[in-house]
Amino acid sequence: MNLLGNLVNLRAIEKKDALFLLELVNSPEMEYWVVGSSVPTSSIQQEKWMENIANSHTDIRLVVENKEGTVVGFANLVQIDPINRTAVHGVKFAKEFRGCGYAKDTVMAIMRYAFDTLNLNRLESTILEYNDSSIGLYTKACGWSIEGVKKSAVYKNGKYNNLVMIGITKDDFKQFSL
Ligand SMILES: CC(C)(COP(=O)(O)OP(=O)(O)OC[C@H]1O[C@@H](n2cnc3c(N)ncnc32)[C@H](O)[C@@H]1OP(=O)(O)O)[C@@H](O)C(=O)NCCC(=O)NCCS
Repeated sequence: MNLLGNLVNLRAIEKKDALFLLELVNSPEMEYWVVGSSVPTSSIQQEKWMENIANSHTDIRLVVENKEGTVVGFANLVQIDPINRTAVHGVKFAKEFRGCGYAKDTVMAIMRYAFDTLNLNRLESTILEYNDSSIGLYTKACGWSIEGVKKSAVYKNGKYNNLVMIGITKDDFKQFSL
């Protein structure tokens, strides 16, 4: 089942998305903003990765399309824990498609799916402390809370950076959506 927002649709990854995703993972600009660190990825590695990422009830990876059908970003809901009803969520948008409201619409669609369809009770993520747009997106625009800061947790760009832990419960989401 695809996820429908007002500005975007989220669907399973297809072969035709390989180049878009490869460019995201190899982009030094993207690497600056995201928490993990990636090695240069070849199209061969990318194909293998794509062969192994069938969506399941524990890991869901989606591409985000605008209503014109252009792929603009990537979103996931992974490490879905069936006992505690939690999952980890993240998004990435190509530079030319930022600042259009697509990210907010995507996070809201993911939350509706996670809480109202998958019956999860809590979502969480981590953000580099200097990533103001991501912190603003989740806390101001989507109702998430900052739950803590891990000091000097991520070595990136030549220094140790603080890592902000964020989360939202189903109850918070319902309150925020009123
Ligand atoms: C973080 C990211 C997803 C935000 O996407 P975006 O396209 O700017 O988001 P939207 O246009 O949907 O904006 C939604 C809200 O985000 C917040 N926001 C966006 N940029 C902001 C900034 N520089 N400072 C503070 N808040 C900001 C605002 O609340 C905004 O709502 P508003 O326009 O009504 O004020 C995007 O910049 C991105 O893909 N960055 C690279 C990857 C990344 O950082 N991923 C997250 C890793 S944790």
